[in-house]
Amino acid sequence: MDGNSESRHGMWSSRWMFVLAAAGSAVGLGNLWRFPYITGENGGGAFVLIYLACIALVGIPIMMAEVLIGRQGRQSPVNSMLTLTQQHHRDSSWVLVGWMGVLAGFLILSFYAVIAGWALKYIFSLASGAFAGASGEHATKAFEEFLASPWEMIFWHSLFMVFVIFIIARGVASGLETAVRWFMPLLFVLLAVLVGYGVTSGGFAQGVDFMFAFEWSKVTDTALYEALGHAFFTLSLGMGAIMAYGAYVPSAVSITGTVVTIAVLDTLVALAAGLAIFPVVFANGLEPAQGPGLMFVTIPLAFGHLPLGALFGTLFFILVSFAAITSAISLTEPALAYLVEQHNVKRSRAAIGIGLACWLLGIGTVLSFNEWSDVHLLGEKNFFDVLDYFTQNILLPLGGLFIALFAAWALPKAVTKHQLGLKTAWQENGWLLLAGVVAPLGVLTVFLVTLIGIDNIRNWLS
Ligand code: PFF
Repeated sequence: MDGNSESRHGMWSSRWMFVLAAAGSAVGLGNLWRFPYITGENGGGAFVLIYLACIALVGIPIMMAEVLIGRQGRQSPVNSMLTLTQQHHRDSSWVLVGWMGVLAGFLILSFYAVIAGWALKYIFSLASGAFAGASGEHATKAFEEFLASPWEMIFWHSLFMVFVIFIIARGVASGLETAVRWFMPLLFVLLAVLVGYGVTSGGFAQGVDFMFAFEWSKVTDTALYEALGHAFFTLSLGMGAIMAYGAYVPSAVSITGTVVTIAVLDTLVALAAGLAIFPVVFANGLEPAQGPGLMFVTIPLAFGHLPLGALFGTLFFILVSFAAITSAISLTEPALAYLVEQHNVKRSRAAIGIGLACWLLGIGTVLSFNEWSDVHLLGEKNFFDVLDYFTQNILLPLGGLFIALFAAWALPKAVTKHQLGLKTAWQENGWLLLAGVVAPLGVLTVFLVTLIGIDNIRNWLS
């Protein structure tokens, strides 16, 4: 494999298909329910600037590293890392990075699918007019009752997994590419329609103010860690999803330009999501909540009180479901490609096997919201909290750190120069500085701060 050949799994038919697939992976629940909220809470426009710096200095270099390793190895992350370490006589422990990615993807999908199932259910709830004129109590109770019934949650979770398995089983060209070719443009259109609706809802000025007003006083050191951590999660970095997709990128495509396009798209969607969500929330005089509360209580409630709210609320949850599906399919690719390569199983079989195993593990997350909600496995954390914490705070940052270090320092310079089309010494040094120093230091800082706890660090320093 010299980076010029093709992958046995298939190839993206064009540069744009890769852009759509990677943007599909990047744009997900993180953009829709986390970014708008943390922006509002951490200083609006000031936070957006910090976030953009994190995307540019940490996110883009690590994404370039993932794509270049994938394209050079042309296999699943595990086997790409294996081939590259063997070819260039590097320590074989680098392959662990690939394995961590397989594990992270598997664990993340197990709970991501449960939450995506909630979005599927809410498409139908909104469409049926269940929230028309509803009170805050009603909306809260509806969500609590849903969370309290494991069977209902399992139903929607299973439906989501069936969609995912159906798409991934069909392969890169007819499965993944067809899905993103339809879902991504529709997602952009839906988002534009919902921003338009936000503009007319009566709360637009307040929404813009919440998202963009510069409030430097709200920017604390936590804002920086939040921005960096989120930049990382939102671009799907650190677990090999983008590396796996990178293996299917045609050789002639420019990695740098393409990665910048993907990061810009992801950021635009996150900003637009805020402009779609907060105006309707403020138009109703509601307070923006966080995470699930924002998405499954405040938003349905807000739409329930606006003209044509059932229609636009339904469109909103279709948007969330599309975003979740295109992210979910990327979570399976590292494991799926590996099974096909290593055990020569048919892709459809591997897809069903992985899907079923993930589904089974997902039951643990379902139960964490009801039967097992008080079963604490680690401190106060229940089953779902542990998975969430372990993947986002440990596996992903460590994966990203080692991927950047591998691409910058372990791969021969000739390989990176060729893959990235670096021509001048400036470009080469710029790449080494970002991917080899700035990005790893950034990720390491966030990793340690989250692990040790910001309060403990402040105590030591004072
Ligand atoms: N980027 C997705 C989001 O913002 O919701 C989450 C994600 C998807 C993370 C795929 C990692 C991944 F491989």
